[in-house]
Amino acid sequence: MSNYHIKNLEEYFQVYRKSIRDPESFWEEIAEENFLWRKRWDKVLEYDLSKPEFSWYKGAKLNITENCIDRHIYGRGDKTAIIFEPNDPSEKAEHISYNQLHERVCKFANVLLDHGVKKGDRVCIYLPMIPELPVSLLACARIGAIHSVVFAGFSSTALHTRINDSDCKIVITSDGSYRGGKTIDLKGIVDEALESCPGVKTVLVVKRINSEISMKPNRDKWLQPLLDEANNTCVPEIMDAEDPLFILYTSGSTGKPKGIVHTTAGYMVYTAYTFKNVFQYRENDVFWCTADIGWITGHSYIVYGALANGATTVLFEGIPSYPDFGRFWEVIQKHKVNQFYTAPTAIRALAKERLDFSGNYDLSSLKILGSVGEPINEEAWHWYNDNIGKKNCPIVDTWWQTETAGIMISPIPYSTPTIPTYATLPLPGVQPALMDENGDELKGNLVSGRLCLKFPWPGMARTIWGNHDRFRETYFSTFKDFYFTGDGALRDSTGYYRITGRVDDVIIVSGHNLGTAPIEDAINEHPAVSESAIVGFPHDVKGNALYGFIILKETGEGRVHDNLRKEINQIITEHIGPIAKLDKIQFVTGLPKTRSGKIMRRILRKIAENDTDNLGDISTLLNPECVQEIMDGAV
Ligand code: PRX
Repeated sequence: MSNYHIKNLEEYFQVYRKSIRDPESFWEEIAEENFLWRKRWDKVLEYDLSKPEFSWYKGAKLNITENCIDRHIYGRGDKTAIIFEPNDPSEKAEHISYNQLHERVCKFANVLLDHGVKKGDRVCIYLPMIPELPVSLLACARIGAIHSVVFAGFSSTALHTRINDSDCKIVITSDGSYRGGKTIDLKGIVDEALESCPGVKTVLVVKRINSEISMKPNRDKWLQPLLDEANNTCVPEIMDAEDPLFILYTSGSTGKPKGIVHTTAGYMVYTAYTFKNVFQYRENDVFWCTADIGWITGHSYIVYGALANGATTVLFEGIPSYPDFGRFWEVIQKHKVNQFYTAPTAIRALAKERLDFSGNYDLSSLKILGSVGEPINEEAWHWYNDNIGKKNCPIVDTWWQTETAGIMISPIPYSTPTIPTYATLPLPGVQPALMDENGDELKGNLVSGRLCLKFPWPGMARTIWGNHDRFRETYFSTFKDFYFTGDGALRDSTGYYRITGRVDDVIIVSGHNLGTAPIEDAINEHPAVSESAIVGFPHDVKGNALYGFIILKETGEGRVHDNLRKEINQIITEHIGPIAKLDKIQFVTGLPKTRSGKIMRRILRKIAENDTDNLGDISTLLNPECVQEIMDGAV
């Protein structure tokens, strides 16, 4: 039996029990047998929940790119590491071998070094899903720079906030990006963002769409000529286990986005281990995760977890609907994809289309289907199972978060019997707990509560960049000595977990985490707006959509016109990005508030969900009279 690769349910239970009984020796064996270390650790785990501080593999030295690339060169050098499938299906796919990846990463790393980037410096990456994106992550890791990828659908305001928060000196971007039949002027967005980023001295620009763009002298440089000149070997920087590997921003329910920090060794071990088990990856398999590398799913499973296992990973530039709704299935057929990992939103959108979009393609290569990012509803689960998996591919409904680095609760294919909508059982090393309202742990089965984790795991986030107090406050203060996920969950009679959704003011729209506060802040910037409150309501494709209740400064007839709705969505697009646009806007004259002045979102949520029979007690509100008015005007 190997701890690293679980093959049946009995093994799972054995390994799980061992991982709980003796977590240190469990994670030690996995680290020892499967990775390349420049120096061994002195201690597997050291932690102090009061600070909170966590150190995994303390004292160890390594470089993650040696694990993801160099060690595969002997024996797998010609194996394809990355299959790049472009937006336009008539453009040829590119197969990048481990040898080629090594050369590309080394060259890129040398370009960064030539531009003064050193260990510990932050590098902002704002790129579409093209090979330079994973290559730039790995190039940073090669020299010990900390990458901060910003999803290339974010606006210039969101971009400059993130660049400044982590004080990036350099930005890597492209002249533009393709998105289905459209192009997006990424460089224009970067130029606008950098007007507010005095610290950025260099912008490296990848040529992707061959558009005319302006290049600022001394700051902006085309990347390709620099790569052509660069040396094709680069000695890896030897990192401490706990040196930061990257920062990735995620929305909080309040305030500015949180720069989640992941460190080197624990992140590597955890993503590699979970990749191997949850996707049951075997040597010649082709793995495809459709997420963008701008999110944690892409970091952990397109790039690090996959490459650490010497896998072949697909990098898809396009969208599911271009040139038509058969694109995903065409790509699966073309590259003989074995493991396919996507989001419920995509599944629901595709399920709405004609079946011949999926039926016309040969999907027989598929072995395992995955789902991530939000709860998958039963209907979508069955559609996925029947039409894509042909009832022959286990579905792994994987629950995890940016903060956890990797999958935490998920079936292990061929081992764990699956049930639609259940993420099922914790992976080895993961100790979930459900808490009641009083902060006590709910023991036994058939309970539901707030989902926490009660023991450290190697992939856990270590801090929020520049704000450790906020880290403690957000994750370790709600329940003493427990990590609080922000999700609610239930445990059924057999111990299976079902995630029921967020219990805080984060709303998941199309699989993207959106905090209500930043959206409200953006809306409140509109000169006509005095106050706003955002809640989510169920949407049959996006999972949730956003409903905004907005108080205007002047309520004269002329103020509430269609343009105002457009302007409000425009301002949200400018501040955050189009993903945060509101589906419904209702202008109101008051918002229900508690006596201490806090907006009672629970009531607004009920109104948005059209479930006003159970509003609960509203008599304690400061202004109960506004509730009827809001109900009458609901859209
Ligand atoms: O609410 C949970 C939901 O997504 C949140 C984490 O979002 P993010 O940090 O963007 O990471 C997404 C990719 C891992 C969680 O707190 N979530 C994620 N996976 C599931 C899920 N909800 C239900 N079922 C899932 N499988």
